[in-house]
Amino acid sequence: MRVCVIGTGYVGLVTGVCLAHIGHDVICVDNNEEKVKLMKSGQSPIYEPGLSELMKSNMDSGRLTFTADLSAGVAHGEILFIAVGTPALPTGESDTRYVEAVARGIGANLTTGYKVIVNKSTVPIGSGDWVRMIVLDGVAERQKEQGKSSTDIEAEFDVVSNPEFLREGSAIFDTFNPDRIVLGSNSDRALKMMQQLYTPIVERKYADDASLPPVPIVMTDLSSAEMVKYAANSFLATKISFINEIANICDRVGADVTQVANGIGLDSRIGSKFLRAGIGWGGSCFPKDVSALIHTADDYNYEAQLLKAAVEVNNRQRLMAIEKLQQVLKILKGKTVGLLGLTFKPDTDDLRDAPALIIIDQLNRLGAKIKAYDPIISQTGMRHGLSNVIVETDPELLADGCDALVLITEWKQFQNLDYSKMAKSMHSAILIDGRNFLDRKAVEAAGFQYVGMGR
Ligand code: UDX
Ligand code: UDX
Repeated sequence: MRVCVIGTGYVGLVTGVCLAHIGHDVICVDNNEEKVKLMKSGQSPIYEPGLSELMKSNMDSGRLTFTADLSAGVAHGEILFIAVGTPALPTGESDTRYVEAVARGIGANLTTGYKVIVNKSTVPIGSGDWVRMIVLDGVAERQKEQGKSSTDIEAEFDVVSNPEFLREGSAIFDTFNPDRIVLGSNSDRALKMMQQLYTPIVERKYADDASLPPVPIVMTDLSSAEMVKYAANSFLATKISFINEIANICDRVGADVTQVANGIGLDSRIGSKFLRAGIGWGGSCFPKDVSALIHTADDYNYEAQLLKAAVEVNNRQRLMAIEKLQQVLKILKGKTVGLLGLTFKPDTDDLRDAPALIIIDQLNRLGAKIKAYDPIISQTGMRHGLSNVIVETDPELLADGCDALVLITEWKQFQNLDYSKMAKSMHSAILIDGRNFLDRKAVEAAGFQYVGMGR
């Protein structure tokens, strides 16, 4: 099928590349010309494992192209994905101005023939109908320019909500091995086209385990599909806040949260995933989606108390690393703290809403000197939000002269560092494991005082 994906961020680019890989003819549109130039030369503007290779092979096969020209994309696609960002405004509301600009642009460039417009961006509940209205506004504006009457709107399209559930760092795996595909629309015609689009994925043609039963497709109305996205992310964020709360109680009573998580996770009603206690959740989705749902509830005179508590627990959790530093070092002024990892999770270059940024602010406020090493950030020029941080190029340089290390992100390579050597070069060998990621005994044998989260 002919597909156009508008917005080539973490979600749009992965979606476009994967749809090309399963055999569709995909054009990706982005209004950032620099980015388009980079992608045309075969380079991915983001770090996502496996993405560059898959991108190149599909460009070579001719199924994947890039452009900054929205009209060319709209003319090409029978299915048009909107995948631009919807960041949180300071109020917690979702900033939908990019979705609006794209919807208007689609309307202004709509060619004849039926099209399905798909909301991949996470948009506030009710946005499906709103996108329809904006597209029609775009059509009307163009017709007015062409001297046609607004009562005679030439546009044949339907809107579908198709939320994404891709985790950064495993976004390609998640695309080919989804737990479900959610499609919300009132149009049978549009739903049929979407089912056809996803058939190879539903039939697990690109799955790691092709013997599994077909991927379930959940078909809903527009608003329910939009709500599925918010509810899923809010549930997962609440689950993490729950285990962090248990960790904080474990710390006080002398229990070990990792053993507790194992003990409760084996109950199939609870499930073992997303029960890793640590310094809390961040990233481009959980914080903004939970805030947006709280905000939507407020708009309808409902106070989402549980979700507000999940956010409060998370805000406090990020500072737990500081509290633990103060417990062991007492005064942080004049001390040097080394951060192992900066990104909000491993295998990504994404610093959006990363717990590291809050911890850095607080350490700055308390007068500590901050050094950091991150496997990706240390190699890129990305320093946004890191102006007071000395970014080192390897973990041993990081440890040199530090009073304590804090493991912020559970990058796999941090399990295999030479901790003995690092301990010897530090003022005091203290390690706060903000993700309960390291082998406590091994780190202690290397000479460190080990402090975990809730254990
Ligand atoms: C996506 C979603 O769409 C968001 O709603 C979801 O919750 C998380 O994932 P993400 O892929 O992280 O967002 O967005 P981002 O990395 O900011 O990329 C957006 C892209 O759209 C950028 O490349 C930007 O240049 C492009 N863009 C933005 C356009 O092409 N046109 C615009 O008008 C605005
Ligand atoms: C999330 C959703 O999982 C995904 O379906 C999509 O909607 C986009 O948003 P992402 O933000 O990429 O994906 O990563 P995820 O693996 O969900 O982790 C989010 C945050 O939770 C990270 O900061 C991570 O460190 C934290 N986390 C996760 C924990 O603290 N404990 C856990 O057990 C799991």
